[in-house]
Order: sequence, then structure tokens, then C-alpha cells
Amino acid sequence: MNATIKVWDPLVRLFHWSLAGLFLANFFTEEGELVHRGFGYAIAILVAVRFVWGWIGTRHARFSDWVVRPRRVRRYLRERLAGRSRRQLGHNPGAAVMILALLAGVLLVAFTGWLQTTDRFFGEDWLEVLHETLAYGVLGLVVVHVLAAVGESMHYGENLIAAMIHGRKRSLGHDAAGDEKGVVTCAKSSQQASRSIR
Ligand code: HEM
Ligand code: HEM
Repeated sequence: MNATIKVWDPLVRLFHWSLAGLFLANFFTEEGELVHRGFGYAIAILVAVRFVWGWIGTRHARFSDWVVRPRRVRRYLRERLAGRSRRQLGHNPGAAVMILALLAGVLLVAFTGWLQTTDRFFGEDWLEVLHETLAYGVLGLVVVHVLAAVGESMHYGENLIAAMIHGRKRSLGHDAAGDEKGVVTCAKSSQQASRSIR
């Protein structure tokens, strides 16, 4: 059996599913009413907590683990398209870009929602349109995000969605030798690696 290791700590998992639940639920709440505003503010608080955790949290929660320069993102995407990309324990550079866009997006939606409650911007049509457009724009990103999670799961032969629930991922082939940074070129080589460990 392949060894698994803990990658996503409880805070990251709780954050993710609370954010996902509240964001999606807010499309079904009464627009601008108490519950809608409450969910929106809760999202802003969640993201603020996640930002702090990104600095002081566990290894794979930290921004330093997965926020990389554009050059590395381009390289990852090139290798991924060519089928030569390497499985990672934390977020891969492609996922990282999407995650940053989602975090910025939900904050902007919450911010434009809050602006509508201020005296200065109350009743401004353009702001209502902007808020709604941003909300549906982020929803579009979420669709891509979920499709990518399914696609990457199939590509690397590992259920990334389940990993975001229980927090564990298949250890990298090199882990047995103590190389935590090690990466394995796609599922096939990781199977070979785990076979060789056995
Ligand atoms: C961050 C999560 C949020 C999401 C996903 C979201 C989403 C939406 C959507 C989709 C609409 C349009 C509803 C429709 O036309 O049927 C809407 C309307 C509205 N939202 Fe939000 N919202 C969020 C946060 C907030 C916050 C934090 C506030 C205020 C504190 C707020 C205040 C409003 C108001 C006042 C409207 C009504 C605008 C109008 O009259 O057309 N929203 N929101
Ligand atoms: C409901 C369907 C969803 C599924 C199946 C899903 C799946 C996932 C998976 C598998 C990851 C980990 C990616 C990786 O392994 O690198 C992830 C991360 C993430 N997702 Fe989702 N997601 C969903 C909805 C959402 C929504 C609605 C949002 C925000 C609007 C969101 C925002 C994020 C963020 C911010 C992360 C990074 C988590 C962290 O490091 O704290 N997701 N998601």
C-alpha cells in the first residue's frame, strides 16, 4: 500500500469548505439582506485568517510553499501540457495562480457588497452591476477550478478533492528516503517508485 502523509492541516480544510459553502450559498440568499451580508463578511474574515495562516501556518499552508514567480508558472504549464510535469505535495504552480485569483476575487465581491451599504455609494446602479458581475465572474473561475481539480486528479492518479477533505496525500516516491522536497514525474513514475520501495 502507498504511504500517505498529512499535507492539508485542519485549518486549511475547514477554511476551504467553509469558503466554498458560503460563497456558493450566497447566490441563493436574499440579495443584500442580513444573511447575504453576514455570509459575505464571514467570507472576508475567513480570507483574512487564511492570509495570516499563509505566513505562520503549517508547511504546505504557507505562501512560501506554493506562491511562485510567473516564470515557474509558465514552465509548469509547458511541462504539464507536454505531460512532463511533476506531482507536488502542496499546490502546484497552476493551482496557485487560480487560488490567488479566487482569494482576490471573493475579497473584491465582499468589498463591493459592503460599499453598497455605505452612505457614499448606497443605491449606485453601477456598483450593483459591478458586485453582481464580479460574483458571477468568480463563479466562472470556480467552475474552472473544480474542473482543473478533477483533471489534475485524473492526470496524477490521486484524488485531490478527497485530499482536501481528509488532508492526506500519497507520499512522494523519494519520501521514503527522507526527501520531502522530492517530486515524482506523474502517476506512472510514482507507481514505479512505490513499487521499488516495496
Ligand atoms: C462575498 C460573497 C458575496 C457574493 C457571492 C455575493 C453575490 C451577490 C449576487 C450574485 C448578487 C445579485 C443577486 C441577484 O441579482 O439575484 C448580489 C447582490 C447584492 N449583494 Fe452580494 N454577494 C456577496 C457579498 C455581499 C456583501 C458582503 C454585501 C454587503 C455587505 C452584499 C450586498 C449585496 C447587495 C446590497 C446586493 C443587491 C444589489 C442590487 O440591488 O442589485 N453582498 N450579491
Ligand atoms: C465545491 C467545489 C470545490 C472543489 C471540489 C474544490 C476543490 C479544491 C481542491 C482539490 C483544492 C486543492 C488544490 C490542490 O491540490 O492544489 C482546492 C483549493 C482551494 N480552493 Fe477549492 N474547490 C471547490 C470550491 C471552491 C470555491 C467555491 C472556492 C472559492 C470561491 C475555492 C477556493 C479554493 C482555495 C482558496 C483553495 C486553496 C486552499 C488553501 O490553500 O487554503 N474552492 N479546492
